[in-house]
Amino acid sequence: PRNVRKICCIGAGYVGGPTCAVIADKNPDIEVTVVDLNEARIRAWNTDDLPVYEPELLKYVKSARDGADGERSPNLFFSTDVDAAVRAADLIFISVNTPTKYTGTGAGHACDLGYVESATRKIAEVSESDKIVIEKSTVPCKTAETIREILAATGRPGVRFEILSNPEFLAEGTAINDLLHPDRILIGSLRSERGFQAAEVLSSVYAAWIPRDRIMTINLWSSELTKIAANALLAQRISSVNALSAICEATGADIDEVAYACGKDTRIGPRMLKASVGFGGSCFKKDILSLAYISDTLHLPEVAAYWRSVVDINEYQKDRFTRRITKCLYHSLTNKRIAILGFAYKKNTGDTRETAAISVVNSLVLEQADIRIYDPRVKEEQIWQDLKATASDITLLKRRVSVCTSAYEACTDSHAAVILTEWDEFSNKDHSTTQGNSPPTATNGTAEDGNLSSRMDWQHVAGLMKKPMFVFDGRNVVDVDKLEALGFRVECIGKSGTPKASSSILE
Ligand code: NAD
Ligand code: UDX
Repeated sequence: PRNVRKICCIGAGYVGGPTCAVIADKNPDIEVTVVDLNEARIRAWNTDDLPVYEPELLKYVKSARDGADGERSPNLFFSTDVDAAVRAADLIFISVNTPTKYTGTGAGHACDLGYVESATRKIAEVSESDKIVIEKSTVPCKTAETIREILAATGRPGVRFEILSNPEFLAEGTAINDLLHPDRILIGSLRSERGFQAAEVLSSVYAAWIPRDRIMTINLWSSELTKIAANALLAQRISSVNALSAICEATGADIDEVAYACGKDTRIGPRMLKASVGFGGSCFKKDILSLAYISDTLHLPEVAAYWRSVVDINEYQKDRFTRRITKCLYHSLTNKRIAILGFAYKKNTGDTRETAAISVVNSLVLEQADIRIYDPRVKEEQIWQDLKATASDITLLKRRVSVCTSAYEACTDSHAAVILTEWDEFSNKDHSTTQGNSPPTATNGTAEDGNLSSRMDWQHVAGLMKKPMFVFDGRNVVDVDKLEALGFRVECIGKSGTPKASSSILE
């Protein structure tokens, strides 16, 4: 029914890899090739040690890449031969990175479209037949116009390109589930006969597993803007709740209760209201800065300032948390050992882009603390790479920081344990947080409790740490009463701390 035999995806990253694994799994009749210039990444995609950690991802990759269940032929390929895959494809996803520019005009704000442009030029250069080119990357509104111009100016005569916007809404850590059960699929096209036809072709690929009423076709520019708008709105909820957490800490209100009660209002809803040390990840900050930059270029400074304040509050939150650690540890961290539990920007991913841990660790190092970092998924080289890229004093960094292979190792002889990622391993809450007096914690909507069995034993930790022992919970994942009963002083985001523990601990 549809004339799609081959799909090519340019960019084998966190989006391209998982998205194509699911598309290939659900469309065994389509050959899907994911290409990248990064040879090491492609090599890893062709092993069982994938370059991206996502629950369930390996299963989907193996099924489509290897025909693992024996009932199907392989139809998912990872390759560095960009030219061949582009030339052969009917449909081409552009899923390259679109980071914030770091030099030149708009540095630190504008979106760097250099990778999108080079992918586009490659498509124009090698295409010998008509193609549907799909923006999967998150791009500023009107980028499709740039893509169209480049293709028109540099493509071969007679080759026709139709451009669609099809932004991706998956969140890391839950990517496979999000891809299997998306709230909606957005397809933006020009409002022309050929635009509608192209949108229908792409719809048919998704319709292999997604109900038609969840596949929305809208105008190209609306689609591009919706992606950035959705991220801005989600991040704005987190900054709103984090701003309220500061009020809670000063007043005795409890942010988990406030967020829970607010979220019960169906107009507000419960998700993305979990107070934290600050949001991280490769998308929120860059997309809001890009939105603010676009607003500035459109001479809308008030709009730009509004969105920038979402990022400002996030920086403030990270800073406020670090200052609280210093204050509670008697205003001096010099030579104090501090365990950092979690380095990834959220649980169930090994990704560290824009993780709050980077700024917290850098600040603590400047206070001359000795930092012991443990994360169950992030590789040691990655931690060093992130810290070295951002530290103001590399010699001090190397002297003060070490990376551990277990939470216990990190906590040994530490004055404080600082939880920066909500890995299940660090939590001591009852599995059902809805029991007892405290209300359920507002949830970000994920329910990946894969590693409950390997939870750490806080009683054991109590025997390892220096007294008085502090827990700074940047994710509100611990049961404060239980930890207090073990003799810990506990400081959580958006709660006023535990004075009742201080007298017993100092005796
Ligand atoms: P990524 O950095 O993990 O992957 C991008 C890949 O593209 C890299 O491997 C890079 O080598 C490759 N690449 C760059 N230019 C290329 C070229 N010209 N030819 C071939 N390969 C090229 O990035 P990502 O996290 O997958 O994000 C991709 C896009 O999707 C971004 O625009 C991002 O904003 C958006 N997005 C990301 C997420 C997420 O959760 N990470 C979610 C939704 C949308
Ligand atoms: C986000 C968007 O959710 C997704 O739709 C988009 O495609 C890419 O960007 P991601 O960054 O992977 O996804 O994860 P998300 O779950 O949104 O979390 C982002 C950050 O916010 C994390 O650091 C997370 O810990 C934090 N967060 C999330 C909170 O602090 N509180 C919440 O309630 C939810």
